[in-house]
Amino acid sequence: MFTTILLDWFALHKRDLPWRHTKDPYAIWLSEVILQQTRIQQGIDYWWRFIRRWPKVEDLAHTTEDEVLKEWQGLGYYSRARNLHVAAQQIVEMGHFPDTLADIKRLKGVGDYTAAAIGSIAFGLPVAVVDGNVYRVLARHYGIDTPINTTRGKHLFTELAQSLLPNDKPAEFNQAMMDFGATQCTPTSPKCEECPLQETCEALHMGRINDLPVKERKLTIQTRHLTYIYIRCKGKTAIRKRPAGDIWQGLWEPYAPQSPKGEAIQGAVLIAKDVKHVLTHRILLADFYLLETETSPALPDEYIWVEEENLNQYAVPRLIEILFEKLAYFT
Ligand code: ADE
Repeated sequence: MFTTILLDWFALHKRDLPWRHTKDPYAIWLSEVILQQTRIQQGIDYWWRFIRRWPKVEDLAHTTEDEVLKEWQGLGYYSRARNLHVAAQQIVEMGHFPDTLADIKRLKGVGDYTAAAIGSIAFGLPVAVVDGNVYRVLARHYGIDTPINTTRGKHLFTELAQSLLPNDKPAEFNQAMMDFGATQCTPTSPKCEECPLQETCEALHMGRINDLPVKERKLTIQTRHLTYIYIRCKGKTAIRKRPAGDIWQGLWEPYAPQSPKGEAIQGAVLIAKDVKHVLTHRILLADFYLLETETSPALPDEYIWVEEENLNQYAVPRLIEILFEKLAYFT
């Protein structure tokens, strides 16, 4: 019943998204990676940019990581871009786009969700996707309060979604769940008065729409302090590429002094203090300084000097972009 009503709803309300006009697994994979943590309208813009610039997976495989990161700038979660680039090379090496669930999961950065989405949409494999939309729709409709961010919850919802999926229409079912969650059964203010599933919706009948799905609280997010000095010397500034094993791998940043006791930075002007930036697992607080000098200071080897007018050719984290914006007021 649920499935029939959902598919009927989808036939009337499906969103017209550009990757729904193709069966090219590369284009579909790209859309899924972009949409993992991105709003749909922004996702559409970036999808077009990538598809126009690198129409085939070979094109993406043969460009540089820097170019991919640069094109990705603004989307955040840059490991997605790095993995995308590596996976493009894997696909080229495989000789064709992988078409079984196991092979799709071998691609860097492709987990259960993305593999199920690509497998069902591009290849018609009968496997249910489970993302935030699916958790929400099922938790509400079936009145399930098992926390969705627990192993038990993940298993339960995965099995339920799989049991509802019609084997002959996996692509429709999965995309119907996504669209239904995104436009009808939304996190806040879902449109219950005009919902085709209202008669069978447990949460609606129990008045628990706003309580479901349940998430277990995670404790303590750590705060990390950063200090940056934008050094301006003869029209140039010093930046370095961030190394592996920490946040922002492969992105560029201005000079970060080793012992950053703010007050003591000779001749530097404080531009902004405790600029707050929230990442998934931490909160960052950054102090920004500007140091204008005629003699170029000695810096650790990893820093390079670049013309300020060429700075926009380097992919930087959003937080650094904010620094550059603040800097504009001082120029
Ligand atoms: N979100 C993630 N993947 C999607 C898709 N294929 N359609 C709509 N929304 C999505």
